[in-house]
Amino acid sequence: MELYTTSLLFIVSFSTIIFLLFRRNSAFWRSINTPPGSTGLPLIGETFQIISAYKTENPEPFIDARVSKYGSVFTTHVFGERTVFSADVEINKFILQNEGRLFESSYPGSIANLVGKHSLLLMRGGLHRRMHSLTMSFANSTIIKDHLLADIDRLVRLNLDSWTGRILLMDEAKKITFELTLKQLLSIEPCEWSENLRKEYMLVIEGFFCIPLPFFSLTYRRAIQARKRVTEALHLVVRERRIEREKGVKKNDMLAALFDSDGDEENFYDDEIVDFLVSLLVAGYDTTSTTMTLAVKYLTDTPSALAQLKEEHDAIRAKKGASVALEWDDYKSMPFTQCVVNETLRLSNIISGVFRRAITDVKIKDYTIPKGAKVFTSLRAVHLDQDNFEDARVFNPWRWQVSNSLSI
Ligand code: HEM
Repeated sequence: MELYTTSLLFIVSFSTIIFLLFRRNSAFWRSINTPPGSTGLPLIGETFQIISAYKTENPEPFIDARVSKYGSVFTTHVFGERTVFSADVEINKFILQNEGRLFESSYPGSIANLVGKHSLLLMRGGLHRRMHSLTMSFANSTIIKDHLLADIDRLVRLNLDSWTGRILLMDEAKKITFELTLKQLLSIEPCEWSENLRKEYMLVIEGFFCIPLPFFSLTYRRAIQARKRVTEALHLVVRERRIEREKGVKKNDMLAALFDSDGDEENFYDDEIVDFLVSLLVAGYDTTSTTMTLAVKYLTDTPSALAQLKEEHDAIRAKKGASVALEWDDYKSMPFTQCVVNETLRLSNIISGVFRRAITDVKIKDYTIPKGAKVFTSLRAVHLDQDNFEDARVFNPWRWQVSNSLSI
């Protein structure tokens, strides 16, 4: 009986504290004219609504319903926090262009456990700028011309040649993407080691799409263990490459660029390098392979676009012959292919938006976003807005041929 009374007292006090905190927080938000909206239940907010929307084929209703009720900037409460959602192209641009000044990136701790605390997504300040510019310098046109195109051509052919009977396109796209990324990062060619690493990676990726509580989720536990194995394997590679480098062996890949930049400023630690490699592999893997697969789906559903794409490619092939690798000039003479790529990225929205946090009080239109508030810039909402794109939910690569479309 005593235990029952104590538990009851505890539950009542706890609920009262949560309720009062919630009310005080609500009053504060109302007092400074934050964007309108509904924050649902205390603590849980509207998390179930957003999760169940994303489990359907058409997740837009979560945003659509609120945009039509409150306008293109609204407040909700998801994943344990009040969050301002923006479905407005100008506001999204403003938020993203003020990175580091008014807003900073903000991802949950559960993601840090998977990608590592030195990942580009989570790092801030000088180290982020240094890693970011290294990534960008590695994606310049000389590198694309000299290495990336040749590697893409070779690895795609290698994989296509191995296809027999029925294949699962998404799996194959993942394999190609992983092999290509590993080649660019570490100069490692497809082999048993890389395939084993990929299997571990798939376990890590699954961890992004589950409840991030090790006690409750076997998937999350497995993902954390897989990440440990992946980092051990990559640490070994980094160590071996340092030894090779001291002996004068030169390679042309991201790891070499990281070693070389050691001379300019402070050296990168192995932990930083490994987290960076892990996050690049994560960033490129699901995004690129899913987008490639969806491109095939959209083209299959739109035969006229497929025919025009084939025509463009066949003309290039006819000039070069079947076995000669594609080069920079060929890539630059594919205007319709570029339209297909743009349209696929617009419609697929693999990354539906990005999270940021206000570093200071920020005035947007007539509203104030208070310091510390979480903000979600919805890229999907902008891409699928009828005001920005005519027949926004239709795959229409030709829209990119006319320059009056919104270009982001
Ligand atoms: C279709 C493919 C892709 C899509 C849709 C995509 C989308 C995005 C988005 C929306 C962000 C911003 C995240 C944020 O700021 O919160 C981002 C960041 C990033 N992506 Fe991608 N990405 C793709 C492919 C890749 C690939 C292939 C790589 C490299 C292998 C890559 C590496 C990165 C990195 C390093 C960042 C963080 C940049 C920084 O904060 O400095 N992404 N990506």
